[in-house]
Amino acid sequence: MCICRGVTDHQIRQEIENGALSMADLNQRLGVAGQCGRCGQSAKSLLKSSGCNGCGKCGGACKGH
Ligand code: FES
Repeated sequence: MCICRGVTDHQIRQEIENGALSMADLNQRLGVAGQCGRCGQSAKSLLKSSGCNGCGKCGGACKGH
């Protein structure tokens, strides 16, 4: 997924499971999109497909946290 930081989509899914709510969370936890940013779109769609739009406003309610 993120070549620059060597992060797999599996790791991203796991962090989403563990409560990552936004790209900022993923960046903080895994360093995703911290370099070239090419993985940003794919990481975003992973967030979306997890049922979260990544807005972070709900505090995780949209994912049933
Ligand atoms: S591929 Fe993720 S920052 Fe470059």
